[in-house]
Amino acid sequence: MRVLVTGGAGYIGSHTVLQLLEAGHQVSVVDNFSNSSPESLRRVVGLAGRNVDTYQTDLLDRPALGEVLASIEPEAVIHFAGLKAVGESVAQPLKYYKNNVAGTLNLLEAMDAVDCRTLVFSSSATVYGESVDLPLRESTPRSATNPYGRTKLHIEEMLEELSVSDSRWRVANLRYFNPVGAHESGQIGEDPQGIPNNLMPFVAQVAIGKRPEVQVFGNDYATADGTGVRDYIHVLDLAEGHLAALDYLSNTEGLHVWNLGTGAGSSVLDVIDAFARISGRPVPYRITDRRPGDVAESYAHPEKARLDLGWKAERGLEQMVEDMWRWQSKNPEGFPELNPEPLNHEQLAKFIQGRVDDQS
Ligand code: NAD
Ligand code: WQD
Repeated sequence: MRVLVTGGAGYIGSHTVLQLLEAGHQVSVVDNFSNSSPESLRRVVGLAGRNVDTYQTDLLDRPALGEVLASIEPEAVIHFAGLKAVGESVAQPLKYYKNNVAGTLNLLEAMDAVDCRTLVFSSSATVYGESVDLPLRESTPRSATNPYGRTKLHIEEMLEELSVSDSRWRVANLRYFNPVGAHESGQIGEDPQGIPNNLMPFVAQVAIGKRPEVQVFGNDYATADGTGVRDYIHVLDLAEGHLAALDYLSNTEGLHVWNLGTGAGSSVLDVIDAFARISGRPVPYRITDRRPGDVAESYAHPEKARLDLGWKAERGLEQMVEDMWRWQSKNPEGFPELNPEPLNHEQLAKFIQGRVDDQS
């Protein structure tokens, strides 16, 4: 299948592109590299031994996006492109509504114009807001506690209305829990810019010695050890969920929602302990105040995806940490910095394909 992946150079996108290539799909990527580097795709292409047709295009550039879709003629789109930092979204809400909501609107119009109406969308468990009715099911009422979460909620609603208006649309809203881990090669992984917002990359940077200690945001929650509990899911399991959703949509009409989580929770101290044990490095930590907006616990009811898609997360916390540590130790500074000048389609092709040529 000809699949367009928006945000395909990013953390979850790059792992999904690799699996799409391995499954024999023809893959194109649109990314503005605002939070990623073409180096991730160069490595993906090296791992897969197959090429990715890549465009440095912003979803907000509607004419350019239209041209790219017209030349690719995708049969389906997996839409990762978006901004995802909760704190930044509180400080700059309009940036988030513009990039995430208006960017998605542009994408949907451009898809419609080329008769492509199959979409897998990166939603988030953040749409369950502060729900304490655990485990979280697809039917759990939605709400948002910050502008980032509200962009996901608005996009889900926009897709629902679109599907009602035109039955040719086939849509999967995938609600991810907490994606972590990396490809087992240690060649691709999450490359946070600046101070990581999320627990696992922060712990990895403490283990490698880049940061002195982890701040544990509260140990007085009503959980087994008092620290926050989350449903961490290996990024490779998550990527497999996208391929399963794509398969499902090729046989089934309408809009569908699936949680992608393991169904099991781990506490902040579980994560720190696992990291210290697996890395063999000290991971000092200090208990601080709760972080505003955090819930005590969040974990999925993952059965709907198992029943409909035949998909289930297979990798446990040990493997998530092992793979994260391999990526972190092989790439302590993340991907190398590249020339910030935008690359045209031919320059990108040369850079990315170079990896396959290097190896042949
Ligand atoms: P990421 O930042 O690594 O990847 C997003 C990619 O989209 C980046 O490569 C970025 O350059 C690109 N992008 C952003 N805005 C763009 C635009 N206007 N035009 C073109 N490209 C653009 O993030 P990720 O962790 O891989 O997340 C992928 C998606 O999954 C996001 O939509 C995110 O909201 C969602 N999600 C992520 C998590 C998580 O914890 N990582 C959890 C739930 C949902
Ligand atoms: C996990 C646990 C913290 C950092 C966020 C977004 C959510 C989704 C995934 C995209 C919590 C604790 C964290 C630290 C800590 N993203 N923690 N010290 O908050 O579940 O979800 O990322 O959709 O929208 O809100 O993930 O990794 O930030 O936190 O103690 O330095 O670790 O309190 O209990 P969260 P997280």
